[in-house]
Order: sequence, then C-alpha cells, then structure tokens
Amino acid sequence: MNDRPLPWPVRRLDEVDSTNDLARRLATGSDGSARPPLVLRADRQTRGRGRGANAWWSDEGSLTFSALLDPTAIGLLDRHTPLCSLAAAVAVVDAISPRVDRGRLAIRWPNDVEIDGRKVAGILPERINGPEGPRLIIGIGLNVRTRLDDASAEVRRMAGSLAEFAGIPLEPDDQEAIFADLIELLRGSLQLLSEDAADLSRRWAELDQLLGRPVRVDLGRKIVAGIGAGIGPDGGLRIDTGSGPQTVYGGRVLRDG
Ligand code: BTN
Repeated sequence: MNDRPLPWPVRRLDEVDSTNDLARRLATGSDGSARPPLVLRADRQTRGRGRGANAWWSDEGSLTFSALLDPTAIGLLDRHTPLCSLAAAVAVVDAISPRVDRGRLAIRWPNDVEIDGRKVAGILPERINGPEGPRLIIGIGLNVRTRLDDASAEVRRMAGSLAEFAGIPLEPDDQEAIFADLIELLRGSLQLLSEDAADLSRRWAELDQLLGRPVRVDLGRKIVAGIGAGIGPDGGLRIDTGSGPQTVYGGRVLRDG
C-alpha cells in the first residue's frame, strides 16, 4: 500500500454510479454534503460517464476518481473550465511517463491521453453552481491494469491499458503509486493554469496527437475537416481547412480521421 500524504483528502468507495455524479450530489447537497477539496475514488462505477452520451468502462484495475474543488480557492475562473481537461491530461502524461517512453504518449484533443494512438485515459471536467458557490469537478479514468477483454470490440480497438504498453507487469502497488503521483501532478497543473498557463500550454501543444494529421470535428450543425494545426493557449484546436484556418472549442473528434 502507498501511504504517502496527499494534497487533498480522498474518500474511497467500493462502488458508485459515477464519481462525477456523486461529486455533483455532494456539492449541491442532494446526497449529504462535502467540503472541497475532496477526491472521490471508486473501485467500480455502474454508470461511468464520458463526454456527451458516451459511457466509461472501468474495473478494479482502473484509476477512477473525481476531484471536487472550489475553483475560487485555487484561482480558477469560469473560462478555465475547458482548459482543465488539457491541464489534467498533462498531469496524466507526467504520472504515467515513468512507465512508458514519453515519445509514445500524446493528448488527443480535447480530453484523452493515448499511448501509441490508443486511449488509456479520459477526463471529464464539469463546473456547477452549488449552494455554497461554484464547484469544479474533474473526473479522471485511467486504465492502469484494466482488463478490456469484456469490453466491446469497439472499445478494445481504440483503447488499451498502461500495463499492456509498459512491457512489465504492473501490480496493485504500482497503481497506488500512480494515483498518488497523479493527484500531486493534477494539483500542480491546476495551480500553473491559474498562475501562468504559458508553460502548461506549451506542454499540451507539444503532446498534440492531431498535429499535422487529418482531423474531422463534429460540431452538431456541421463538420469541420482538415489538418490539425495545433492546440492554442486558449484550448482551441486549430484546423487548416481547405478554405482557411478555423479554431474549434468543442464538438466530437471523429475517430476515422
Ligand atoms: C471521456 O473519455 O469522454 C471522459 C471519461 C471520463 C471518465 C471518468 S471516470 C471518473 C469520472 N466519473 C465518471 O463518470 N466519468 C469520469
């Protein structure tokens, strides 16, 4: 077991519907209450959520948690919320890089971390207004030793676990050490975001998986297609379309490029 002191208290649960949903209920007082900062970590989720209507599949070999934070206390404004995905993605990259060569790690805008082009982590930041002020919820799912055998063929094709790529077996103790590193790195990344995001935005720009590659982003009312031209300091994805550059701030990146 890893008993390192962490910067935020952690509440560990065997099973929950979704750690993001529990954080939301605690923040709004609809299911008890909790004071931020607090990390809600679960061994299993019955209704884990991803972006949009996506579900998030995980098991005990996954790190599954949500940090419930008071954005005002850490100097984060409304406009920072979408950037929290990228800030957290940089923290995930740094937490797993001791186990896998850095050159294999990338961020797939806006909220995935990939190894060799396969997703190992997803991030879901949400900001809500609770009775005691705004709250930031940063949900992270990281496949450390996740067994994807029972996942759908689609998930198995696109996703993997760190253990698969590390080339050495990862044990429960490794998972605990990665969790402790990740919490510390996440706190540091969010602090950097509030103080001076220039260093951080350089990192996410360097890690951009879509840079120079064909990309299509579904904005609902239209699809923007072209070549990825970088993630800006404002978190937007620049795309060189045939009719000039365009920056998108939301939408769904279509996996078929
Ligand atoms: C995505 O890939 O679109 C984001 C996935 C985020 C998954 C994490 S797991 C912990 C937290 N609780 C959830 O229900 N979702 C996030």
